[in-house]
Amino acid sequence: MGSEAITLALNGNRSNLVVICAEDKTVRLKDLKPGDSALYHLEGHFFKLTKGKTGELIADTLNISVKQVNITATDGVDITAPDVSISGNLTIGGNCEAAGRVIGQEGGTFKGIESETHRHKENGRDNLSDGPQ
Ligand SMILES: [Fe+2]
Repeated sequence: MGSEAITLALNGNRSNLVVICAEDKTVRLKDLKPGDSALYHLEGHFFKLTKGKTGELIADTLNISVKQVNITATDGVDITAPDVSISGNLTIGGNCEAAGRVIGQEGGTFKGIESETHRHKENGRDNLSDGPQ
């Protein structure tokens, strides 16, 4: 179906053919510049290395299954997605800012103050208030 291959018959033996290269020009990436490199699939998804030390992976799904992932991004990381979920704990080394609400199913501790049980000194009195309702 449009694929091309170079076939060798070693020692002239046609019963033991070796295919050393195959491609389908209809799906081959056409915008590659000199020095670029790419790996592509018949369905159109691809991995491309281009000028400026840039790598690009275009696909519907990327599955990574390893013991450890380490990402070092000296300028930043941007994630564009409608939802991001993490199944385990999350530790943040810097500030955390949310444009929307922060919702905790089990309460939280802020500077040692428990959000669900802390009490206040009532105005003008020495006694403490009840905890949050
Ligand atoms: Fe309070």
